[in-house]
Amino acid sequence: MSQILEYSEKVMDHFSNPRNVGEIENPSGVGTVGNAKCGDIMRIYLDIGKDRVIRDCKFKTFGCGAAVATSSMATELVIGKTVQEALQVTNQAVMEALDGLPPVKVHCSLLAEEAIHAALWDYAQKNGIEIEGLKEPAKDIEDTEKFYEMSGE
Ligand code: FES
Repeated sequence: MSQILEYSEKVMDHFSNPRNVGEIENPSGVGTVGNAKCGDIMRIYLDIGKDRVIRDCKFKTFGCGAAVATSSMATELVIGKTVQEALQVTNQAVMEALDGLPPVKVHCSLLAEEAIHAALWDYAQKNGIEIEGLKEPAKDIEDTEKFYEMSGE
């Protein structure tokens, strides 16, 4: 029997009116990850200044409503932070900012964190810098064709 999940008002707000959806042209870093549990995909674009502060962040996802809401909140949380500070925007921090998620949806919130890390890794690689504590993403999807195939572009 399926169960009706309860979402906080903040989750509903970010789901119905997601912030920072879209792409950034010539981004400083891009990260695309897949969710091991449901197979959904998330891509994060970062625009980072010379001072290493994140000026803009946008996302595209094929994930569910919880993935949309968590990514929307995550983009808001990382904009204005340095690349180092952005590492503190964990899925836990994003869930807290949204007043929680139903336990079966926690895996959805991982997409944003992992995609941000993958985008930061891409930025670090391109610029030959090291971001302390940032690990190489295990799930960055090299095959971007699949992403565009799914988005019909
Ligand atoms: Fe796939 Fe939520 S079910 S991201």
